[in-house]
Amino acid sequence: MDFEQEIKNLEKANRILQKKLERSEADRVKLEETNSKKEALLKKVIDELQESKLQLEERGKELEKTLFHLQTMQDKMVALGSMVADVAHEINNPVGFIIGNINPAFEYIHDLFDLIDLYQQNYPNPCPEIKAEMAAMDFDYIREDLPKLIYSMKEGTTRISNLSNSLRTFTRSDTEYKVQFDIHEGLDSTLCILQHRLKANQDRPQIQVIKKYEEIPIIKCFPGQLNQVFMNILANAVDALEESNLGLSFAEIEKKNNQIMIATNLATNNCIVIQIKDNGCGIPEDIKSKVFAHSFTTKPVGKGTGLGLAIAQQIILQKHGGTLELNSVVGEGSEFIITLPIE
Ligand SMILES: Nc1ncnc2c1ncn2[C@@H]1O[C@H](COP(=O)(O)OP(=O)(O)OP(=O)(O)O)[C@@H](O)[C@H]1O
Ligand SMILES: [Mg+2]
Repeated sequence: MDFEQEIKNLEKANRILQKKLERSEADRVKLEETNSKKEALLKKVIDELQESKLQLEERGKELEKTLFHLQTMQDKMVALGSMVADVAHEINNPVGFIIGNINPAFEYIHDLFDLIDLYQQNYPNPCPEIKAEMAAMDFDYIREDLPKLIYSMKEGTTRISNLSNSLRTFTRSDTEYKVQFDIHEGLDSTLCILQHRLKANQDRPQIQVIKKYEEIPIIKCFPGQLNQVFMNILANAVDALEESNLGLSFAEIEKKNNQIMIATNLATNNCIVIQIKDNGCGIPEDIKSKVFAHSFTTKPVGKGTGLGLAIAQQIILQKHGGTLELNSVVGEGSEFIITLPIE
C-alpha cells in the first residue's frame, strides 16, 4: 500500500515537473521572441542614428561651403566697393570742372546777348548780310533756347555729382571699429543709387517714395553694412511692387499707386527705428518664417539668390545688436522694421 502510494506521489511529482518544464520552455520561446524584437528595434534605431549622423555631416559640409562662398563674396564686395568709390571720386573731378564753369559760361552768354541788344538798339537797320545770317541761324529761337539748354546741362551735371557722391557714401569701406554715421544720409544715398529702378518705365509710372524722417541722432555703426541692409530691403520692396503689378495695365497701376514709405524715429528705449514699407504683393503666412533663411527665395533663377534678408539680419543682429522685424499682409504689402541701439 505504501509502495503504491509512493508511486502515485512520484507520478504526480513527475507531472508537475513536466508541466513546469513545458511552461519554462514556453517562457524561453517568448523571451527569445521579445529579444529578437528588441534586437530588431535596436538595429533600426542604430540605423536611423547612423543616417541622421550622415545627414548632419552632409549639412555641415554644405554650411561650410555656404560660409566659404559668403566669405569670398564679402571679399569681392569689399574690393568692388573700394573700386566703385575710386571711380566715383575720379568722376567727381571732371564733373567739378563742368559745374564750376557752367555759371560763368551762363553769365558770359547773358553779357553777349546784352551786347547784341545794345547793337540792335543803336543800329536798328543792319545790313542785308547780317539780316540774312540772323534769319538763317534763327537768332530769336537761339536766344530763347540757349539759357534753357545751359540750365539742363547744369541739372545733369548736378545729378552726376550727387550720384557719384552717393556712390562714395554707399560704398564707404568699413573699418574694424564703428564710426559716427547719419542714417538719413545712408538712406538717401541708397535711394539715389536705386533711382534707375524707381523711375517710370513703359509698364508703370514712377514708384513714389515717401520719406518721413524725424530728428534722430548720429549713431555709431558700420555705415557700409547698414547701407547694404537698406539696399537689400529697398530692392525687395521694388521687386514686390513689380510682382503686384503683373497683369495690370499702366492705368490700373497708376490708380493703385506703387509706394515705398521710409520712416525714421527715435524710440523711448534709446533706440532708433527705421521702417521701410511697401504696398506690394505681401508675404504669405507660411513663408514669413522662412524669408530670413539663407538661400530662401521665391524669385526665378538668376533673379534672386535668397541672401538679401539673411545678410541684412546678420548685419543688424550680430554686428549692431539691433532687431529686424517683419509685418506683412498678402495683397496689402510688407513692412520691415529695423531697430538700432544708440551706443
Ligand atoms: N518686401 C517684400 N515683399 C514681398 N516679399 C518679400 C519682400 N521682401 C522679401 N520678400 C520675400 O522674401 C524672399 C527672400 O528675400 P531675400 O532678399 O532674402 O532674397 P531674394 O530677394 O529672393 O534674393 P536676393 O536678395 O539674394 O537677390 C524673397 O524671395 C521674397 O519671396
Ligand atoms: Mg532680396
